[in-house]
Amino acid sequence: MDCTLIIDNKALEQPVKEGTIGPSVIDISKLYGQTGMFTYDPGFTSTASCESKITYIDGDEGILLYRGYPIDQLAEHGDFLETCYLLLYGELPTAAQKADFDYRVTRHTMVHDQMNRFFTGFRRDAHPMAIMVASVGALSAFYHDSTDISDPHQRMIASMRMIAKMPTLAAMAYKYSIGQPFVYPQNDLDYTSNFLRMCFAVPAEEYKVNPVLSRALDRIFILHADHEQNASTSTVRLAGSSGANPFACIAAGIACLWGPAHGGANEAALKMLEEIGTPDRIPEYIAKAKDKNDPFRLMGFGHRVYKNYDPRARIMQKTTHEVLNELGIKDDPLLDVAVELEQIALKDEYFVEKKLYPNIDFYSGITLKAMGFPTSMFTVLFALARTVGWIAQWSEMIEDPSQRIGRPRQLYTGETERDYVTVPQRG
Ligand code: SDX
Repeated sequence: MDCTLIIDNKALEQPVKEGTIGPSVIDISKLYGQTGMFTYDPGFTSTASCESKITYIDGDEGILLYRGYPIDQLAEHGDFLETCYLLLYGELPTAAQKADFDYRVTRHTMVHDQMNRFFTGFRRDAHPMAIMVASVGALSAFYHDSTDISDPHQRMIASMRMIAKMPTLAAMAYKYSIGQPFVYPQNDLDYTSNFLRMCFAVPAEEYKVNPVLSRALDRIFILHADHEQNASTSTVRLAGSSGANPFACIAAGIACLWGPAHGGANEAALKMLEEIGTPDRIPEYIAKAKDKNDPFRLMGFGHRVYKNYDPRARIMQKTTHEVLNELGIKDDPLLDVAVELEQIALKDEYFVEKKLYPNIDFYSGITLKAMGFPTSMFTVLFALARTVGWIAQWSEMIEDPSQRIGRPRQLYTGETERDYVTVPQRG
C-alpha cells in the first residue's frame, strides 16, 4: 500500500509498511530528496524511529508484550533471567538453555577489583545514579576485550557482563553511600537474591534472603526490563548508531533514564507522596497538577503511550500489597495516600479527559522503600532492570544491515547570514 502526499500540486507516493500488529508506518526516508522538506515531530509523538521485533505496546488497550508474551504471564510464571534470555534471543529458553544462561551470567557478576578504588573518588553523598552513569561508562576502561562491536562474540560477552555486573555496581553504589563495606557476589544465589545480599548483608552477621521479597523484586525487574522506544532506549540506539562501545551506550541510557519525566519518576513519586503526607491534602495537590501555571505534575501519572492503565502498574500494585503483608506493614501512610490519590484522580474530569492513569512508577517507590531501599536508589533499580532491554535493542540495531548513524535535521528559525561586527562597531 502507498499513501500520496500532494506538495505544490505534485503527487508524491510514499510507501506504507505494515507490522505484524500495531500501527503501520509511512516510509518518508526519501521525502527530503523528493521535496527538499523535512517532517517535523519534536517529541516523536508520531514518529517510528526503527523497526523492532522485541517489545510491543498497545497504549489504548494497556497491552505490553515481550517477544509476543504478555507481561502479566511472564511476571507470574517466569524469573528475570528468563526474561533477559527471551528479550536477547527472542524465545523462551529450554531448561538446559536457562541453566547455561544463568551459569554464564552468574560468573560475570564480579567487577574488576580496581573499580573499588574508582568508587572512593566520589563523595559519600553522591547520588547513586551519578555513580552508575560514571561506573558503567568506566567499564569500557576495564573490559577492552568486549568493546569491538563488529565482533558478535565480543558483543555477547559485553552483554553478559552488563547484565551480570549492574547488580554488583548498584549494590556498591548503595553500600558506598551508607559507609558500609562492599559485599561480593555469591555464585550459589539466584540473580535477585544475590543483589539483595550485596545490598543488605554486613560482615558482622549472616544474611538470610527473604524469598518472598526476592521473588517480588525479581518480578519488579521483569516489569522494568524493556519498553519499546522510550527516551532512554532511543538514547542507547542513537549512541550505538555512531559505533560507540556498548558500555558507553548503556551509560548514556542511564543518564537519560535519570530524568524525573522518565525513570526518575519513581523517586519523584515517592517524594510527592511524602510531601502530600495525608489524604486530606490530596485535593490541594490535584488542583496544583491541573493548574496550567503550576509546573507541578502528579509524578507516577500519565504516559506518552499508555492512554489506559499501565499493565505494569496493576502488577506493581499487587506486588506492593504482597511485600507490605510479608513485612507486616499493616497501615503504610504513603500507601493510604497513594490509593486515595489514585481513586480521586481517576474520577477527576481533568485526568479522565487527558487519559492520565498511574504508570509503573506510581507504586514502585512504596514497595522499594518498604524493602529498605532509600529513594535515591529507586531509579538505580530501574536502570538495573532496563539494562537488558537497552542491550537487546542495541544488539538489534547493530545487527540490522540497514543500520546507519542516526542524524535528525531541524527547522531553523535563527538569524539569516550576516557579516562579523568588530567590537568598536558594536556600540
Ligand atoms: C516512564 O516512554 C516510556 O515507555 C517510559 C516508561 C518506560 O518503561 O520506559 O514507561 C517509564 O518514564 C513512565 C513515565 C514516568 N513519568 C512520570 O510519571 C512523570 C509524570 N508524567 C508526565 O510528566 C507525563 O505524563 C509524561 C512525561 C509521562 C508523558 O508526557 P507527554 O506524553 O509528553 O504528555 P504531555 O506532557 O504532553 O501531557 C499531555 C497533557 C498535558 O496537558 P495539556 O498541555 O494537554 O493541557 O496531560 C498533562 C499535561 O500537562 N499531564 C499531566 C501529567 N502528565 C501529563 N498533568 C498532571 N500530572 C501529570 N502527571
